[in-house]
Amino acid sequence: TREAIDPVRFLSNHSSGRMGFAVAAAAAEAGAAVTLISGPVSLATPPGVQRIDVESAADMYAAVMQAVTSTDIFISVAAVADYRPAVPAPQKIKKESAEISLDLIRNPDILAAVAALPDAPFTAGFAAETESIVSNAQDKRLAKGVDMIAANRVGAGLGFNSEENALHVFWEKGEQVLPVTGKVKLARQLLNLIAEQFQRSHHQEKVIKFNAKDSA
Ligand code: C5P
Repeated sequence: TREAIDPVRFLSNHSSGRMGFAVAAAAAEAGAAVTLISGPVSLATPPGVQRIDVESAADMYAAVMQAVTSTDIFISVAAVADYRPAVPAPQKIKKESAEISLDLIRNPDILAAVAALPDAPFTAGFAAETESIVSNAQDKRLAKGVDMIAANRVGAGLGFNSEENALHVFWEKGEQVLPVTGKVKLARQLLNLIAEQFQRSHHQEKVIKFNAKDSA
């Protein structure tokens, strides 16, 4: 509901698809106070959502680390680049030789860093997989130390650049398949799972009014 007196404080990051915006919209609709940290995209900010725009993975890391201190739930939806050029070119690179190589260095893992904070919020991440979804997702949940992982099969009209998606969601003591549907409906269903697990693991009283519609 919109009337939540003590809203769940909610942070979502997002890079290029529409899933992050759908999740942020569903959380705001459910009564949470939402901050959306977004990479460069041309998508309208959902009603009631506070948006912070960033360009690079390093900027997203900094913005998330600053905002997360006052957050109950962090959902990491952004497909963050794993590597960045070691030495960014100040100008256009001229085609002088037949081959060039770029040295790349690792970007920090934002989700793992949030999950490792001493006073970490409830954390949920995504895992885009093309194969062995179940084992890869569970491994990822444990490796990053997060409370929940939403795995999605990418390719064949699903995932990135698609209106529809399906998720297989894992947490410590359970899992649930959310079958193929539109991203808005899927985001609401995911939010309900997050609210349930957040309630179990943390603050019962905060979730009483936090309930996303799972239809329409
Ligand atoms: O390891 P992988 O990139 O498959 O994990 C995906 C999850 O980790 C997503 O939730 C994504 O938002 C998050 N991630 C991150 N920072 C990175 C890379 C991924 O927060 N540098």
